[in-house]
Amino acid sequence: MNQKTLEWIGDENGHVEMIDQTRLPGEYLIIKIETPTDMWHAIKQLKVRGAPAIGVAAAYGICLGLKQVEDNTPLNDALKSIAETKDYLATSRPTAVNLFWALNRMHRICQDNFPDTKSLKNRLLAEANLIRQQDADMCRSIGKHGADIIQKNDNILTHCNAGGLATAEYGTALALMFSAHEQGKSFHVYVDETRPLLQGARLTAWELQQAGIKATLICDNMAGHLMSLGKVDRIITGADRIAANGDAANKIGTYSLAVLAKAHNIPFYIAAPSSTFDLSIPSGKEIPIEIRDPKEITSPWDNTIAPEGISAYNPAFDVTPHEYIRAIITETGIIQSPNQASVKNHLATSAT
Ligand code: MRU
Repeated sequence: MNQKTLEWIGDENGHVEMIDQTRLPGEYLIIKIETPTDMWHAIKQLKVRGAPAIGVAAAYGICLGLKQVEDNTPLNDALKSIAETKDYLATSRPTAVNLFWALNRMHRICQDNFPDTKSLKNRLLAEANLIRQQDADMCRSIGKHGADIIQKNDNILTHCNAGGLATAEYGTALALMFSAHEQGKSFHVYVDETRPLLQGARLTAWELQQAGIKATLICDNMAGHLMSLGKVDRIITGADRIAANGDAANKIGTYSLAVLAKAHNIPFYIAAPSSTFDLSIPSGKEIPIEIRDPKEITSPWDNTIAPEGISAYNPAFDVTPHEYIRAIITETGIIQSPNQASVKNHLATSAT
């Protein structure tokens, strides 16, 4: 994919361009995001989505807020405006920790000394660009570390979209596949369509097809059947937030896959950058789960498929306890059998 998922165009008075992921695969539309409000809606409506990508989006959202602040504004007023933009963007989606991680990282920069508002603006745009570039680099490293997990002629199952579209570039779960494919390995991927918003059918199927990787689309409720027939060798997904003990939130349906995988003795892997870990919470129980509009279930894409007035419940994520996870692949290596000690040890060692 040549076009970046999202990128900043121009100087500190510039704007963001992103692929509108709600239009794929039918239409490849690049949209312009000019204000924090535009960015909030783009995140909320999943025009930009996937944990690492919304982290980058939030960082750029801060720069869009500053664009509205004149260069000669007193520094304290500029800082106040940044704090407001940060609080506002933090209300867009609750589960992926990368969003809060990026906002906090931008906020920490504000604690440095700046001679004036103009230099603060420059510095924050440089930081947001760095967050984007580092995410792209981390994804390549995840691919390198995890490619060996994929064996020749494997049948892999994945859920939702953890590809280039969900990150700055290259993806997390799909990074393993892209990397193994680049090494010339032949394998095949079952793609869960991922109800209700079909990130698997619309985005993962599209990305794998573009890369020339063999893929077969299935409905979510077919995965257990395929496992029982011995047709799945391993499952690889991304994550939106990983607690200190290795419990991992990911797209709704991931937990069911992990339990089924355990029942069929199929290894279940998660691929995620260090920005997806939230060591401030001891377990997955503390991960806030986004509840979305029931209409996404009853009337997807304005097509009513359920009786008027029926109640519907739409949690967007679930939590897979660490006991179900064979390993987590990060940009610095692999955490085997993740638990509180192995997660802490891995992140501490890789941070030094
Ligand atoms: O609601 P979404 O599409 O933002 O959900 C995305 C996922 O669940 C991904 O699997 C996760 O963010 C990992 S992306 C590298």
